[in-house]
Amino acid sequence: MAEVRFDGKVAIVTGAGAGLGRAYALELANRGAKVVVNDLGGARDGTGGGTSAADQVVDEIKKAGGEAVANYDSVSTMEGGENIVKTAVDAFGTVDILVNNAGILRDRSFLKMAEEEWDAVIAVHLKGAFCVTQPAVKIMKEKSYGRIIFTSSTSGLYGNFGQTNYGAAKLGLVGIMNTLKLETAKYNIKINTIAPTAWSRLTEDIMPEETGKKLKPQFNEPLVLYLCSEENEASGMTFVMGAGWYGRTAIVSGNGVCIGDADRVITVEEIRDNFDKITSLDDAKPQNSGGDIFQYMAPLLS
Ligand code: NAI
Repeated sequence: MAEVRFDGKVAIVTGAGAGLGRAYALELANRGAKVVVNDLGGARDGTGGGTSAADQVVDEIKKAGGEAVANYDSVSTMEGGENIVKTAVDAFGTVDILVNNAGILRDRSFLKMAEEEWDAVIAVHLKGAFCVTQPAVKIMKEKSYGRIIFTSSTSGLYGNFGQTNYGAAKLGLVGIMNTLKLETAKYNIKINTIAPTAWSRLTEDIMPEETGKKLKPQFNEPLVLYLCSEENEASGMTFVMGAGWYGRTAIVSGNGVCIGDADRVITVEEIRDNFDKITSLDDAKPQNSGGDIFQYMAPLLS
């Protein structure tokens, strides 16, 4: 089988100065991509900043014979997002691949969470993905080619104590993907979302070191790179992974139950009496768009 290569492709990886983003950037460059290493070099909570995080990864790539440039903008403003994409265009002429990876944490239980903690996390993860992806998609649409990754989390997909802000932002990214995949489908732009698991400064205090050591960021990178490759046809999917385990997760709809005739009023008692059927996920399926849900109501609408 031919090796998966990225020769001639230009990739942007946000938050690539550390952890997972660094792993993606190094391997994309190792396989021939020209890489924009974006990182504002802040602390785990997003405060502070500097150029050294991005510069170090660029140096590593160059020392290994690859091509890379650094960018130090924050993903969380439109100006920052546009400048990140401009860095790719100025240095390498275009953008083919965007890995939205930059992230911070401001954990707090819901009742204690301050507005500022809510806003900061939404700004980096959710708004940040909009700010970088919109200018990138403009270019990808023109050239009818693009591969985009959004980075979600099991905290958003399934929940995690103390992370309502982070979870909301992370599931919001699935929401962006669900619609953007429809808007860009005819331009050969494939968009997928990943929920990684890795030992990094974001997770070092929530798992024991012994487990953490097995959760190397590098285990997340092969699926991310495959999804970014030209041969990947999947779009609109969400993947969960860690330590060499890879799987797909999805929002699914159960078959539910049709009650009545779309004319007479449905009673609360009928809901109670059908509640097992309503809550059943037997034969549940993912949907491609919101409109697909009409298939279940079809017997009532015909
Ligand atoms: P990390 O803290 O090692 O790396 C994140 C990088 O993003 C840092 O270098 C940071 O400076 C940069 N960054 C933060 N805010 C930025 C901004 N506004 N603009 C540009 N760069 C910014 O964290 P890690 O673990 O590598 O996380 C990467 C992504 O994966 C994040 O989106 C995180 O939420 C997500 N994730 C990680 C998991 C894990 O197990 N490590 C689990 C689920 C999701």
